[in-house]
Amino acid sequence: MNQDVKKHIDELVELLNKASYEYHTLDKPTITDQEYDNYLHELVSLEEKYPELVRSDSPTVRVGGEVIDDFQKVRHEIPMLSLSNVFNESEIVHFDEKVKKFVPNTSYVCELKIDGLSVSLIYKNGELVRGATRGDGVVGEDITHNVKTIRNIPLRLKEKIDIEVRGEIYMPKKSFEALNETRKKNHQEPFANPRNAAAGSVRQLDSSIAASRNLSSFMYHIPNAKDYGLNTHYDSLKFLEKLGFTVNPNIQLVSNLHELLDYIEKWTEKRESLTYEIDGIVIKVNGLDDQEKCGYTVKYPKWATAYKFPAMIVLTKLKDIKFTVGRTGQVVPNAILEPVLLMGSVISKTTLHNEDYVIGKDIRIGDTVKIKKAGDVIPEVIGPEVMRRDGTEIPFVMAKECPICHEPLVRKEEESAYYCVNPHCDAKRIESLIHFVSRNAMNIEGFGDNIVEDFYNMGYLNTFDDFYHLYEKKQELMELEGFGEKSINNLLTSIENSKKNSLERLLFALGIRHVGAKTAKILATHYITMEKLQSATLEELIEIKDIGSTIAKSIIKYFKNETNQNLLTNLKELGLNMKYLGAISTNLPLAGKSFVLTGSLETMTRDEAQEKIESLGGTWSSSVSKKTGAVIVGENPGSKYQKALELNVPILSEQEFIDMIQS
Ligand code: IVH
Repeated sequence: MNQDVKKHIDELVELLNKASYEYHTLDKPTITDQEYDNYLHELVSLEEKYPELVRSDSPTVRVGGEVIDDFQKVRHEIPMLSLSNVFNESEIVHFDEKVKKFVPNTSYVCELKIDGLSVSLIYKNGELVRGATRGDGVVGEDITHNVKTIRNIPLRLKEKIDIEVRGEIYMPKKSFEALNETRKKNHQEPFANPRNAAAGSVRQLDSSIAASRNLSSFMYHIPNAKDYGLNTHYDSLKFLEKLGFTVNPNIQLVSNLHELLDYIEKWTEKRESLTYEIDGIVIKVNGLDDQEKCGYTVKYPKWATAYKFPAMIVLTKLKDIKFTVGRTGQVVPNAILEPVLLMGSVISKTTLHNEDYVIGKDIRIGDTVKIKKAGDVIPEVIGPEVMRRDGTEIPFVMAKECPICHEPLVRKEEESAYYCVNPHCDAKRIESLIHFVSRNAMNIEGFGDNIVEDFYNMGYLNTFDDFYHLYEKKQELMELEGFGEKSINNLLTSIENSKKNSLERLLFALGIRHVGAKTAKILATHYITMEKLQSATLEELIEIKDIGSTIAKSIIKYFKNETNQNLLTNLKELGLNMKYLGAISTNLPLAGKSFVLTGSLETMTRDEAQEKIESLGGTWSSSVSKKTGAVIVGENPGSKYQKALELNVPILSEQEFIDMIQS
C-alpha cells in the first residue's frame, strides 16, 4: 500500500514540478491553473496523511510556512564581487580598450542588469541546500527558507551535481504594484521600488510572507564554471538553463564594440516594455580563460562592467501647484502633475522646494514640464517647455497664508523658505508626530503616515506622550475599521519597544530645530543623559565640534520652553530611556563591528563614512587588528590594506561599503 502511495506521490511531484517549470521558466504553460491546483490539492492531502513520504523537492514547500528565529551568517567561499560602473559611450570604449590590452580578440556577453538583489545558491547532489544574500560580499545571510518559495528556483536540479550558482532575485513590476496596493489598504508603508520590496521579502523570518510576494529569479553566474568543463560565460548560461534555472532570454553574444553599443541602444529604448525593472546593461568577457587573464581589482572583476542607464526624462503637464506644511512649519509648493510613468513608477506629484526654485525656473501652472528621475531619487521638475506655451499658463504666486490654519506666513531672513509660525497648526502637529515615529527617530514600526493622521484627527494623538498612552485605549482602537487585535497588538508592542531607544533617537524625534540625526548623535555621545544636556549652557554647546551658534541657540531655546520641559518630564515618567546606550546595546545592523578606512573614497569624505558607520551602530578605528570587522579600501590604499590581507580581515570596496550601508 505504502509503495503505491509513494509511487503516486512521486508521480504528482514530478507532474507538478514539470508544469511549474514549463510555466515559470519556459513561459509555456502545458496545464491550466485549475488542473495544477487540483493535483496540488491531492498531493497536500496525501502528504498530510503520510508525512514520512514528503519529498524534499515537493512543490508544497513553495507555500512557505517555515519560520526561523534569526538569520544565520554565512561565509561565501568565493567572495561575491560587485561590478564597476560606466555611464556613457566613451567610458564603454575605455573599458573595451582596457580589456583588449589583456585579451585582444575577445567577444562579450551582454546581459540586462536586473534591479533586484543578488543571491548565492548551493546545491549538493542536485538538491538545494542553501540560499544566501550577498551581504558585504564575504559574509551574507542564510535565506534558504525564503529562497525555496521562489517558484523558478529549482529545489532539485536536472543533474545530481554539487554546484554554486549566483543570480538575481527580483519582484516583477505587476507583483510590486499589487503588493503596494494591498499595503496601502492595510495602512502599511508602501515599498519605494521593486528592489526594496524584493529585499524586504527575503529578509522575512516567516517564509509564508516571501511565498506570498511572487518573487522571481534569473541566474547569471557560476563561480567555479571551469570545474564543469565550461569554457565560456555563454556556455555557463546555457548550462544553467540545462540544470533547470531561468536565465534571462535577452542575453546576446557580441563580437565588437559596434554590436555592443547597438545592444545598449536597443535595451535603453525597450526597457519599459519588460515585466521587471532593469537599471543597466552588464558587459562580460565571454571566454573564461580570458576572464582570468583580465583579473580582478580589490573591488570588481576587470572582465565585466555595468553600463548604468542615465536618468530618465519625460514630459508632462503641470496641472496645479499645491502647498503643504512640514513639521518645521515650512510651507512648500508641490507640483501636481498629469500622471506619467517614469522608471517603473507613476509620478503625479513632486516637490518644487520653495518660491525661489519655481520663480528661478519660471515654472507656470499649465506648463508642459520636463521631469527627471534617477534611480531611487525623488523626481525633479527640470523646467518648463517654453515653446509649448499658449498664453493660458498662470505665473506662480507664493502662498501668503498657511494652507491649513490660514495664519500669515513668515519668510525667515536669509532663507528661501516661508513658515507657518502658529504652534497649534494641525498640519505641523501631524507632521511632527509622523517624524516622531519615523525610522531614524523612534522607529515605531507599523505607524504609516495615514494612521498617524487618522489617530490625530480622531483625537488619540496630539503630543508625543500620547503614543505611550495608546494602550489605555486598546479596546476602542481594535474596533476601528481596518484594525484588528493583531495589528493593534503589533503597534502597541512597537511603541513599548521604542521606550528602550538610545537617547539620540529621542533627541532627533523631538524635532528640535536644526537638530538632525547627526547632531542628535553628537549631543547624545557628549552628554550621555538628557538631564545633563538640559542643563548645558550656550558657551558649552558651542565648544562642541560641529555645533555652531545657530544649533546651540535652538537647543537652549527648546529646553527653556516650559511646554517642552513638561513633555520631557512626562516621557521620562512613562518609562522612556533618557540615556545614550552606545553602539553595543542597540539593535543597529553594525552594532559591535569596527571599521578601518584606507585610501580615499570617491563618493564621500572620511567624516561622512565615519558618520554613516556610527549611525548604524558600528565603530571606527585607525588601525587594523584581528578584531577589525572590515577594512574599507579606497583609491591608493596604504599599508592598512596589506595588514588586512595578512590578518585575513574582510575587505570592502567603496561600492560594497555603499551597498552594505544602503541595505
Ligand atoms: S554579474 C562577478 N550580471 O548588479 C559577477 N550582476 O552592481 C558579478 N546584477 O551585485 C555580478 N544583473 O546583484 C551580474 N546580469 C547580471 C546582473 C547583475 C543584476 C546585479 C548584481 C550585482 C550588481 C552589481
